[in-house]
Amino acid sequence: MEYEDIIIAPSILSADFARLGEQVQEAEAGGAGWIHIDVMDGRFVPNITMGPLVVEAVRRSTDIPLDVHLMMIEPEHMLPAFADAGADHITVHYEACQDVYRTVNMIKRLGCKAGIAINPHTRAAALYEIIPIIDEIMVMTVSPGFGGQSLIEETLPKIARLRAMVADKKREHMPIITDGGINFNTAPSVAQAGSDVLVVGSAVFNDNPIADNIAALRDALRSEEM
Ligand code: DX5
Ligand code: ZN
Repeated sequence: MEYEDIIIAPSILSADFARLGEQVQEAEAGGAGWIHIDVMDGRFVPNITMGPLVVEAVRRSTDIPLDVHLMMIEPEHMLPAFADAGADHITVHYEACQDVYRTVNMIKRLGCKAGIAINPHTRAAALYEIIPIIDEIMVMTVSPGFGGQSLIEETLPKIARLRAMVADKKREHMPIITDGGINFNTAPSVAQAGSDVLVVGSAVFNDNPIADNIAALRDALRSEEM
């Protein structure tokens, strides 16, 4: 994978919610490939954030893919509402599903790409049997729940293990997404570890212009490649 092809997916968790539509449009103009929306239920993770209403508002602000990351227990009850709100990708947590097969099939029947996220403590091998049915994998590089945390380096070797597993199952083109603690200092090592999509929250939405932040991430990736 060329570093130029890596997708940057800004997470609106760190956006200014009083100006959400504007900030999403700035991110798109700055080169964001997807918009990442962090849904937290106060049970699977110790924080509560947003629901389908916000997805629907973001949908009206942009046409780029919306990547909805459900950090919630029993996500299957809410899948139709998020699909109706305009989600393109829906990622659920391996640790939060009673029956991953059933949940993944529900997401696909709703017409969305189905992703499975794994927390830092979950082994890559947990996904081996479900690789044939999922569309993408999300490796959490922090414990989910809050933006602005430091990347846990020990999670990065999982990406190579997942690469080997997807190759073994003849699913080489499956995107591997990383989420948490990615900024222009850490992005090069995450890219080098083999991630295709970088979710970036606080390093995109902060006091600096959004487009400058995305450009700084791209520069950091480019400098690594040379
Ligand atoms: C963490 C969320 C992340 C978060 C990333 O629970 O899933 O998407 O917004 O934020 P940063 O980039 O600030 O770590
Ligand atoms: Zn996320």
